[in-house]
Amino acid sequence: IRVVVLYGGRSGEHEVSLKSAASVLRHLDRSRFEVIPVSIDKAGRWQWNDLHAIDRAQAASLPILPDAPEMRLARGPDGRCALVPISQSGAGPLDIDVVFPVLHGPLCEDGAVQGLLELAEVAYVGSGVLASAVSMDKDVAKRLAEFAGIPVAPYRVLTRKAFVRDRAASVAKATEGLALPVFVKPCNMGSSVGIHKVKTWEALGAALDDAFRYDVKVLVEQGIDAREIEVAVLDGETPFASIASELNPNAHHEFYSYEAKYLDPDGARVDLPAKLDAAQMARVRMLAVQVFAALECSDLARVDFFLDRHSGEFCFNEINTLPGFTSISMYPKMMEASGVPYGELLTRLVNLALD
Ligand code: DAL
Ligand code: MG
Repeated sequence: IRVVVLYGGRSGEHEVSLKSAASVLRHLDRSRFEVIPVSIDKAGRWQWNDLHAIDRAQAASLPILPDAPEMRLARGPDGRCALVPISQSGAGPLDIDVVFPVLHGPLCEDGAVQGLLELAEVAYVGSGVLASAVSMDKDVAKRLAEFAGIPVAPYRVLTRKAFVRDRAASVAKATEGLALPVFVKPCNMGSSVGIHKVKTWEALGAALDDAFRYDVKVLVEQGIDAREIEVAVLDGETPFASIASELNPNAHHEFYSYEAKYLDPDGARVDLPAKLDAAQMARVRMLAVQVFAALECSDLARVDFFLDRHSGEFCFNEINTLPGFTSISMYPKMMEASGVPYGELLTRLVNLALD
Protein backbone atom coordinates (compact mmCIF):
# COMPACT_ATOMS: atom_id res chain seq x y z
CA ILE A 1 0.00 0.00 0.00
CA ARG A 2 1.51 3.25 -1.12
CA VAL A 3 1.05 6.03 1.44
CA VAL A 4 1.82 9.66 0.64
CA VAL A 5 2.85 11.53 3.77
CA LEU A 6 1.95 15.11 2.92
CA TYR A 7 3.75 17.72 5.02
CA GLY A 8 4.68 21.39 5.25
CA GLY A 9 1.82 23.45 3.91
CA ARG A 10 1.05 27.10 3.44
CA SER A 11 -0.06 27.88 6.98
CA GLY A 12 1.53 29.50 10.01
CA GLU A 13 1.98 25.95 11.34
CA HIS A 14 4.31 24.90 8.49
CA GLU A 15 7.22 24.32 10.90
CA VAL A 16 5.05 22.32 13.30
CA SER A 17 4.03 20.10 10.40
CA LEU A 18 7.69 19.43 9.54
CA LYS A 19 8.18 18.13 13.09
CA SER A 20 4.95 16.12 13.08
CA ALA A 21 5.87 14.51 9.78
CA ALA A 22 9.39 13.58 10.95
CA SER A 23 7.79 11.67 13.81
CA VAL A 24 5.15 10.03 11.61
CA LEU A 25 7.81 8.90 9.13
CA ARG A 26 9.80 7.25 11.92
CA HIS A 27 6.78 5.32 13.20
CA LEU A 28 4.98 4.24 10.02
CA ASP A 29 5.27 0.49 9.54
CA ARG A 30 7.53 0.21 6.49
CA SER A 31 6.86 -3.52 6.24
CA ARG A 32 3.21 -2.71 5.46
CA PHE A 33 3.41 0.63 3.74
CA GLU A 34 5.52 2.09 0.98
CA VAL A 35 6.04 5.65 2.14
CA ILE A 36 6.26 8.60 -0.28
CA PRO A 37 7.16 11.91 1.43
CA VAL A 38 5.54 14.80 -0.44
CA SER A 39 6.15 18.32 0.83
CA ILE A 40 4.14 21.48 0.25
CA ASP A 41 6.37 24.53 0.49
CA LYS A 42 5.23 27.95 1.68
CA ALA A 43 4.51 28.95 -1.93
CA GLY A 44 2.25 25.91 -2.32
CA ARG A 45 4.54 23.73 -4.49
CA TRP A 46 4.22 19.98 -4.07
CA GLN A 47 7.51 18.08 -4.23
CA TRP A 48 8.38 14.40 -4.02
CA ASN A 49 11.26 14.03 -1.59
CA ASP A 50 13.69 11.14 -1.55
CA LEU A 51 12.84 8.88 1.39
CA HIS A 52 16.37 7.50 1.71
CA ALA A 53 17.90 10.96 1.88
CA ILE A 54 15.34 11.91 4.53
CA ASP A 55 16.05 8.74 6.51
CA ARG A 56 19.78 9.43 6.36
CA ALA A 57 19.33 12.99 7.64
CA GLN A 58 17.40 11.75 10.73
CA ALA A 59 16.31 15.32 11.38
CA ALA A 60 13.75 16.30 14.01
CA SER A 61 12.03 18.38 11.31
CA LEU A 62 11.41 16.81 7.93
CA PRO A 63 13.32 18.78 5.28
CA ILE A 64 12.12 19.85 1.87
CA LEU A 65 15.00 18.66 -0.30
CA PRO A 66 16.39 21.25 -2.75
CA ASP A 67 16.15 19.11 -5.89
CA ALA A 68 12.92 17.25 -5.09
CA PRO A 69 10.88 17.13 -8.30
CA GLU A 70 7.68 19.16 -8.39
CA MET A 71 4.57 17.00 -8.67
CA ARG A 72 0.81 17.31 -9.03
CA LEU A 73 -2.10 14.97 -8.39
CA ALA A 74 -3.75 13.52 -11.46
CA ARG A 75 -5.37 10.41 -12.78
CA GLY A 76 -2.88 7.80 -13.84
CA PRO A 77 -3.28 5.81 -17.07
CA ASP A 78 -5.21 3.10 -15.18
CA GLY A 79 -7.68 5.57 -13.68
CA ARG A 80 -6.10 5.52 -10.23
CA CYS A 81 -4.92 8.66 -8.51
CA ALA A 82 -1.27 9.32 -9.25
CA LEU A 83 1.49 11.77 -8.53
CA VAL A 84 2.65 13.18 -11.82
CA PRO A 85 5.85 15.20 -12.37
CA ILE A 86 5.24 18.72 -13.59
CA SER A 87 8.37 18.86 -15.75
CA GLN A 88 8.48 16.71 -18.89
CA SER A 89 11.85 15.32 -17.94
CA GLY A 90 10.58 13.98 -14.61
CA ALA A 91 9.86 10.33 -13.87
CA GLY A 92 6.55 8.76 -14.92
CA PRO A 93 3.36 8.82 -12.85
CA LEU A 94 3.33 7.05 -9.50
CA ASP A 95 0.01 5.47 -8.47
CA ILE A 96 -0.92 6.16 -4.87
CA ASP A 97 -3.39 4.47 -2.52
CA VAL A 98 -3.81 6.83 0.38
CA VAL A 99 -2.71 10.27 1.50
CA PHE A 100 -1.85 11.00 5.13
CA PRO A 101 -2.04 14.77 5.50
CA VAL A 102 0.37 15.52 8.33
CA LEU A 103 -0.51 19.16 7.96
CA HIS A 104 -1.88 21.75 10.35
CA GLY A 105 -3.76 25.00 10.05
CA PRO A 106 -5.52 26.96 7.31
CA LEU A 107 -5.42 25.52 3.77
CA CYS A 108 -4.23 22.24 5.35
CA GLU A 109 -6.59 21.17 8.10
CA ASP A 110 -9.63 23.25 7.15
CA GLY A 111 -11.06 21.24 4.27
CA ALA A 112 -9.03 22.83 1.47
CA VAL A 113 -6.58 19.96 1.00
CA GLN A 114 -9.38 17.50 1.81
CA GLY A 115 -11.45 18.96 -1.05
CA LEU A 116 -8.54 18.57 -3.43
CA LEU A 117 -8.13 14.93 -2.37
CA GLU A 118 -11.86 14.34 -2.89
CA LEU A 119 -11.55 15.72 -6.42
CA ALA A 120 -8.56 13.48 -7.04
CA GLU A 121 -10.61 10.52 -5.76
CA VAL A 122 -7.92 9.29 -3.43
CA ALA A 123 -8.42 7.95 0.11
CA TYR A 124 -7.04 10.12 2.90
CA VAL A 125 -6.62 10.01 6.65
CA GLY A 126 -8.77 12.33 8.72
CA SER A 127 -12.02 14.19 8.59
CA GLY A 128 -13.75 15.13 5.37
CA VAL A 129 -14.33 18.61 3.99
CA LEU A 130 -17.27 19.59 6.21
CA ALA A 131 -15.86 18.45 9.56
CA SER A 132 -12.42 19.84 8.72
CA ALA A 133 -13.86 23.24 7.88
CA VAL A 134 -16.20 23.59 10.84
CA SER A 135 -13.62 22.24 13.28
CA MET A 136 -10.97 24.71 12.11
CA ASP A 137 -13.33 27.63 12.69
CA LYS A 138 -13.29 28.12 16.46
CA ASP A 139 -16.54 30.10 16.34
CA VAL A 140 -18.56 27.61 14.26
CA ALA A 141 -17.10 24.68 16.23
CA LYS A 142 -18.24 26.23 19.51
CA ARG A 143 -21.69 26.97 18.09
CA LEU A 144 -22.13 23.36 17.01
CA ALA A 145 -20.83 22.07 20.35
CA GLU A 146 -23.22 24.36 22.22
CA PHE A 147 -26.07 23.22 20.02
CA ALA A 148 -25.23 19.65 21.07
CA GLY A 149 -25.50 20.70 24.73
CA ILE A 150 -21.77 20.93 25.48
CA PRO A 151 -20.84 23.99 27.54
CA VAL A 152 -18.49 26.64 26.11
CA ALA A 153 -17.00 29.72 27.81
CA PRO A 154 -18.49 33.12 26.85
CA TYR A 155 -16.92 34.74 23.78
CA ARG A 156 -17.52 37.43 21.15
CA VAL A 157 -16.71 37.45 17.45
CA LEU A 158 -15.27 40.40 15.53
CA THR A 159 -14.82 40.69 11.79
CA ARG A 160 -11.93 42.53 10.20
CA LYS A 161 -14.38 44.49 8.05
CA ALA A 162 -16.23 45.89 11.08
CA PHE A 163 -12.95 46.47 12.93
CA VAL A 164 -11.48 48.47 10.04
CA ARG A 165 -14.73 50.43 9.53
CA ASP A 166 -15.21 51.43 13.18
CA ARG A 167 -12.51 50.37 15.58
CA ALA A 168 -14.08 51.89 18.70
CA ALA A 169 -17.50 50.34 18.10
CA SER A 170 -15.89 47.03 17.30
CA VAL A 171 -13.86 47.05 20.50
CA ALA A 172 -16.93 48.05 22.51
CA LYS A 173 -18.78 45.07 21.08
CA ALA A 174 -15.84 42.79 21.80
CA THR A 175 -15.74 43.70 25.46
CA GLU A 176 -19.45 43.81 26.21
CA GLY A 177 -20.21 41.58 29.18
CA LEU A 178 -16.67 40.16 29.38
CA ALA A 179 -14.28 40.64 32.28
CA LEU A 180 -10.48 40.70 32.21
CA PRO A 181 -8.47 38.74 31.37
CA VAL A 182 -9.69 37.85 27.90
CA PHE A 183 -8.04 35.82 25.16
CA VAL A 184 -7.87 37.16 21.62
CA LYS A 185 -7.64 34.43 18.98
CA PRO A 186 -7.66 34.31 15.19
CA CYS A 187 -10.69 32.20 14.39
CA ASN A 188 -8.87 29.80 12.05
CA MET A 189 -5.38 29.05 13.35
CA GLY A 190 -3.60 26.48 15.44
CA SER A 191 -0.62 26.04 17.76
CA SER A 192 -1.65 29.28 19.52
CA VAL A 193 -0.29 31.38 16.62
CA GLY A 194 -1.68 34.93 16.95
CA ILE A 195 -3.23 34.31 20.39
CA HIS A 196 -2.94 36.97 23.10
CA LYS A 197 -3.88 37.01 26.74
CA VAL A 198 -5.17 40.53 27.41
CA LYS A 199 -4.99 41.77 30.99
CA THR A 200 -5.82 45.47 30.51
CA TRP A 201 -8.39 46.99 28.16
CA GLU A 202 -5.68 49.32 26.80
CA ALA A 203 -3.87 46.27 25.43
CA LEU A 204 -6.89 44.94 23.56
CA GLY A 205 -6.44 47.05 20.40
CA ALA A 206 -2.89 45.85 19.74
CA ALA A 207 -3.91 42.23 20.37
CA LEU A 208 -6.77 42.56 17.88
CA ASP A 209 -4.44 44.18 15.31
CA ASP A 210 -2.11 41.21 15.58
CA ALA A 211 -4.84 38.55 15.51
CA PHE A 212 -6.35 40.17 12.41
CA ARG A 213 -3.02 39.58 10.63
CA TYR A 214 -3.96 35.90 10.57
CA ASP A 215 -7.68 35.91 9.93
CA VAL A 216 -10.68 38.02 8.94
CA LYS A 217 -12.56 36.75 12.00
CA VAL A 218 -11.25 37.02 15.55
CA LEU A 219 -12.60 35.67 18.85
CA VAL A 220 -12.47 37.48 22.16
CA GLU A 221 -12.95 34.80 24.79
CA GLN A 222 -13.62 35.15 28.47
CA GLY A 223 -10.49 33.99 30.32
CA ILE A 224 -11.62 31.56 32.99
CA ASP A 225 -9.76 30.16 35.95
CA ALA A 226 -9.49 26.67 34.59
CA ARG A 227 -7.36 23.60 34.08
CA GLU A 228 -6.56 22.53 30.48
CA ILE A 229 -7.63 18.98 29.75
CA GLU A 230 -7.21 17.17 26.41
CA VAL A 231 -8.61 13.94 25.02
CA ALA A 232 -7.59 12.04 21.87
CA VAL A 233 -10.35 10.40 19.83
CA LEU A 234 -9.78 7.52 17.41
CA ASP A 235 -12.55 6.33 15.12
CA GLY A 236 -13.67 2.74 14.83
CA GLU A 237 -16.93 0.79 15.19
CA THR A 238 -17.63 3.46 17.78
CA PRO A 239 -15.20 6.34 18.42
CA PHE A 240 -12.70 5.60 21.19
CA ALA A 241 -11.71 8.34 23.63
CA SER A 242 -8.28 8.11 25.23
CA ILE A 243 -7.34 8.73 28.81
CA ALA A 244 -7.31 12.51 29.29
CA SER A 245 -4.18 14.55 29.93
CA GLU A 246 -3.63 17.87 31.61
CA LEU A 247 -1.29 20.64 30.48
CA ASN A 248 0.24 22.89 33.08
CA PRO A 249 2.12 25.69 31.35
CA ASN A 250 5.21 26.72 33.27
CA ALA A 251 4.64 29.79 35.45
CA HIS A 252 6.82 32.00 33.22
CA HIS A 253 4.36 31.48 30.36
CA GLU A 254 1.05 33.31 30.65
CA PHE A 255 -0.71 30.48 28.83
CA TYR A 256 0.04 27.46 26.62
CA SER A 257 1.50 29.64 23.87
CA TYR A 258 3.44 28.70 20.72
CA GLU A 259 6.65 29.33 22.67
CA ALA A 260 5.54 27.14 25.57
CA LYS A 261 4.53 24.40 23.13
CA TYR A 262 7.41 24.21 20.72
CA LEU A 263 10.31 26.48 21.68
CA ASP A 264 10.73 26.05 25.41
CA PRO A 265 11.67 22.50 26.45
CA ASP A 266 10.27 23.27 29.91
CA GLY A 267 7.22 25.07 28.54
CA ALA A 268 4.66 22.88 30.21
CA ARG A 269 4.31 19.95 32.55
CA VAL A 270 2.02 17.24 31.33
CA ASP A 271 -0.01 15.00 33.58
CA LEU A 272 -0.97 11.85 31.76
CA PRO A 273 -3.38 10.68 33.02
CA ALA A 274 -4.79 14.02 34.13
CA LYS A 275 -5.37 14.17 37.88
CA LEU A 276 -9.14 13.81 37.69
CA ASP A 277 -11.48 11.72 39.77
CA ALA A 278 -13.14 8.78 38.07
CA ALA A 279 -16.38 10.63 37.40
CA GLN A 280 -14.57 13.64 35.87
CA MET A 281 -12.41 11.36 33.72
CA ALA A 282 -15.44 9.49 32.44
CA ARG A 283 -17.29 12.73 31.78
CA VAL A 284 -14.54 14.40 29.76
CA ARG A 285 -14.01 11.27 27.66
CA MET A 286 -17.74 11.15 26.95
CA LEU A 287 -17.79 14.85 26.07
CA ALA A 288 -14.88 14.35 23.65
CA VAL A 289 -16.81 11.68 21.78
CA GLN A 290 -19.89 13.92 21.77
CA VAL A 291 -17.90 16.81 20.25
CA PHE A 292 -16.35 14.46 17.68
CA ALA A 293 -19.85 13.30 16.69
CA ALA A 294 -21.44 16.77 16.78
CA LEU A 295 -18.81 18.11 14.38
CA GLU A 296 -19.14 15.00 12.18
CA CYS A 297 -15.43 14.18 12.42
CA SER A 298 -13.86 10.99 11.21
CA ASP A 299 -10.70 8.99 11.90
CA LEU A 300 -9.08 11.18 14.54
CA ALA A 301 -9.22 14.40 16.52
CA ARG A 302 -7.86 15.88 19.70
CA VAL A 303 -10.51 17.66 21.74
CA ASP A 304 -9.40 20.34 24.19
CA PHE A 305 -11.42 21.35 27.23
CA PHE A 306 -11.26 23.76 30.15
CA LEU A 307 -12.16 22.46 33.56
CA ASP A 308 -13.57 25.46 35.41
CA ARG A 309 -12.02 25.50 38.88
CA HIS A 310 -15.07 27.19 40.39
CA SER A 311 -18.02 25.41 38.79
CA GLY A 312 -16.20 22.09 38.34
CA GLU A 313 -17.74 21.89 34.85
CA PHE A 314 -15.91 21.14 31.61
CA CYS A 315 -16.25 23.58 28.72
CA PHE A 316 -15.27 22.78 25.18
CA ASN A 317 -12.32 24.94 24.06
CA GLU A 318 -11.39 23.67 20.59
CA ILE A 319 -10.87 20.63 18.42
CA ASN A 320 -7.96 19.69 16.14
CA THR A 321 -8.81 17.34 13.28
CA LEU A 322 -5.12 16.96 12.36
CA PRO A 323 -3.52 17.26 15.78
CA GLY A 324 0.22 17.59 16.29
CA PHE A 325 2.20 14.39 15.85
CA THR A 326 5.57 15.76 16.98
CA SER A 327 7.69 13.82 19.46
CA ILE A 328 6.17 15.90 22.28
CA SER A 329 2.61 15.97 20.92
CA MET A 330 -0.26 14.81 23.06
CA TYR A 331 -2.37 12.92 20.52
CA PRO A 332 0.01 9.97 20.07
CA LYS A 333 1.01 10.06 23.75
CA MET A 334 -2.57 9.86 24.96
CA MET A 335 -3.27 6.99 22.58
CA GLU A 336 -0.13 5.21 23.71
CA ALA A 337 -1.19 5.60 27.35
CA SER A 338 -4.57 4.17 26.39
CA GLY A 339 -3.09 1.03 24.85
CA VAL A 340 -2.51 2.07 21.24
CA PRO A 341 1.25 2.40 20.52
CA TYR A 342 2.38 5.01 17.96
CA GLY A 343 3.11 2.57 15.11
CA GLU A 344 -0.15 0.71 15.55
CA LEU A 345 -2.02 4.00 15.76
CA LEU A 346 -0.66 5.03 12.34
CA THR A 347 -1.55 1.62 10.86
CA ARG A 348 -5.07 1.97 12.19
CA LEU A 349 -5.42 5.47 10.79
CA VAL A 350 -4.26 4.39 7.32
CA ASN A 351 -6.66 1.44 7.47
CA LEU A 352 -9.52 3.71 8.52
CA ALA A 353 -8.81 5.86 5.47
CA LEU A 354 -8.88 2.81 3.21
CA ASP A 355 -12.11 1.39 4.69
N1 DAL B 1 -2.51 22.64 15.94
C1 DAL B 1 -1.53 21.83 16.60
C2 DAL B 1 -0.67 21.13 15.63
C3 DAL B 1 -2.15 20.89 17.55
O1 DAL B 1 -3.30 21.06 17.82
O2 DAL B 1 -1.49 19.98 18.03
MG1 MG C 1 -5.54 23.95 17.63
